[in-house]
Amino acid sequence: MSEPTDRLAARLLAGERLTAPEFAALVAHPEPARDEMLRKAAVERRKAGYGSAVFVRGLIEISSICKNDCLYCGIRCGNPNAERYRLTPEEILRCAEEGYVLGFRTFVLQGGEDPFFTDEILVPLIETLKTRFPDCAVTLSLGERSRDSYQTLFDAGADRYLLRHETATKAHYEKLHPASMSFEHRMQCLRELREIGYQVGAGFMVGSPFQTAEDLGRDLAFLQAFQPEMCGIGPFIPHRDTPFRDFPAGTLELTLRLLSILRLACPNVLLPATTALGTIDPQGRERGILAGANVVMPNLSPVSVRKKYALYEGKICTGEESAQCRDCLAARMRAIGYEIVVDRGDCASIAAQSTQWKIEN
Ligand code: 5AD
Ligand code: FES
Repeated sequence: MSEPTDRLAARLLAGERLTAPEFAALVAHPEPARDEMLRKAAVERRKAGYGSAVFVRGLIEISSICKNDCLYCGIRCGNPNAERYRLTPEEILRCAEEGYVLGFRTFVLQGGEDPFFTDEILVPLIETLKTRFPDCAVTLSLGERSRDSYQTLFDAGADRYLLRHETATKAHYEKLHPASMSFEHRMQCLRELREIGYQVGAGFMVGSPFQTAEDLGRDLAFLQAFQPEMCGIGPFIPHRDTPFRDFPAGTLELTLRLLSILRLACPNVLLPATTALGTIDPQGRERGILAGANVVMPNLSPVSVRKKYALYEGKICTGEESAQCRDCLAARMRAIGYEIVVDRGDCASIAAQSTQWKIEN
């Protein structure tokens, strides 16, 4: 193993902060022995916070209509081939009803930035969800909104908000998004969500076009400083109807390495083994859990709309009923020694525990 990067790995294991260039050096120099050591340490740390429990989130994809034109995304407004739909509040409640019976205690309402979903529509929906399912968390993933709107939705009972930062490098952000979107506003939204009191989820795509090790270093340094409660990372997967159709997908290996590093940099973070990871490799979600992830997000959307919520090509689980996905994932997790639990799955506080961890190697 190369000396300087080994020292960086040791400092990460000791709970120290690394700078963006230091994270970049760790990312840029893959080394099987060290990667395996980081993976084992990440699993140990995840077990200290969460044991072998895997939290599930029921993902309800409420709208494929989006006013934005992100260059990577299959539901960008500039894609005339995208099939558009939006669920009614009644349909969303039915998905949650089905999910509750299946053991879900978190519902994630995710969608494009669809102007239909105003606060006037969302407030009664969130209130109904919280009244009908008082033991459940409601997570929103509806993109950039005003501070007032975030506050109103929080006051209505929303617990968590997922808004991937996408990249912590302004110049890179500008290569992935049209001029109408801004890096500063994205970061401002994340800060506001945190100030309002949401449990906040950030995240980024692995292997997105033009991404460098330096960019990933900045992502990791940002995440270590921001300490989001949740962090979604998954491989970029090209979509044929986007300007990025000819770029290669992110790799399994790099995504797994980043999951382990993130687990060490943010010990308690809720880290999903994403559907995108399961899409690029049949064992992707299992490998994600075995790299330090502790969340899976099966789909609760009606099967009739699932293929239409196509952010990227080849998405798995678009033909299965919710119960099938739940059972499939439960079996997959059991096969690797983990157990899906019926729980809201809040972020653990193991702050009292030592930051020194034994390195198994
Ligand atoms: N490949 C992988 N992930 C994507 N996302 C959007 N488009 C793609 C793609 N082509 C991710 C973005 C977004 C999240 C909801 O899905 O990071 O924040
Ligand atoms: Fe959906 Fe396996 S999780 S079919």
